[in-house]
Amino acid sequence: MKKGFSFYEMHPEIYEEAFNEKDINEQVNFLKRVLTKHNARNVLDLACGHSPHARALAKLGFNITGLDISSSLIELAKKRAKEENVKIELHKKDMKKFDIGKFDAAYIMFSSILHLHEPEDILSHFESVNKSLKNDGIYIIDISSLPFHDPDLNAKFHKHNGKIITDVLYEPIENQVSKAKFSVTNYKLGKKINHETFTVLRYFPLALLQYLCTKTGFKIHAVFQNFKFKDGATPKQEYIAIIKKVK
Ligand SMILES: C[S@@+](CC[C@H](N)C(=O)[O-])C[C@H]1O[C@@H](n2cnc3c(N)ncnc32)[C@H](O)[C@@H]1O
Repeated sequence: MKKGFSFYEMHPEIYEEAFNEKDINEQVNFLKRVLTKHNARNVLDLACGHSPHARALAKLGFNITGLDISSSLIELAKKRAKEENVKIELHKKDMKKFDIGKFDAAYIMFSSILHLHEPEDILSHFESVNKSLKNDGIYIIDISSLPFHDPDLNAKFHKHNGKIITDVLYEPIENQVSKAKFSVTNYKLGKKINHETFTVLRYFPLALLQYLCTKTGFKIHAVFQNFKFKDGATPKQEYIAIIKKVK
């Protein structure tokens, strides 16, 4: 497994093309409704990647700041924002610990929180988010797309998007109850064009979220199964949680 972090560092546009099946409009509509309800205008997009949500929300009038550890995804985000003539602020930073100002709200999409797989990193992430929010600020955490049926069993999937074929392999790491290895291989016109392997947290159950909220000054405000606002979490603990800063 690679030691350094490399999330499509060489080929950010492959990530953009390979994972573009998400219904961004439905997700952005969800975010817009929640942010509006909570009077949030200045919003932080954590692990923003190439900024699909950030750009769409900026077009709706929100002031969006994106943060991501990958310099090439940040560069691609800047390029796309320029092409679309949309203003967003972007920072290449680690979401484990950061301090880039105060916001009304923050969000993290596409189960990206699972990239934090060490207990101390998860805790310091929640502490940083708390410090970055104004009083009563909210944090929207999307864990509504888990790649397995059972987090303790291997899983794989294969998908075709545009000209890109993607194979994903999810393998729980033996003797490390909370971690899994995630391998992604991309092919274009039959040729292997990218291979990435990284460690992820296997899952993020609501009990862990509740524990972190209590420890870091949040309370759980609402939990939905999907972007259509269906209440609760799925049996395999997929959910979108809205947590609120209480101190
Ligand atoms: C699944 S992608 C999601 C990207 C984007 N939010 C989207 O929905 O398409 C996960 C993102 O997490 C970022 N990431 C992983 N670990 C990170 C860290 N420690 N700090 C900041 N970003 C991180 C990766 O660079 C990547 O852009």
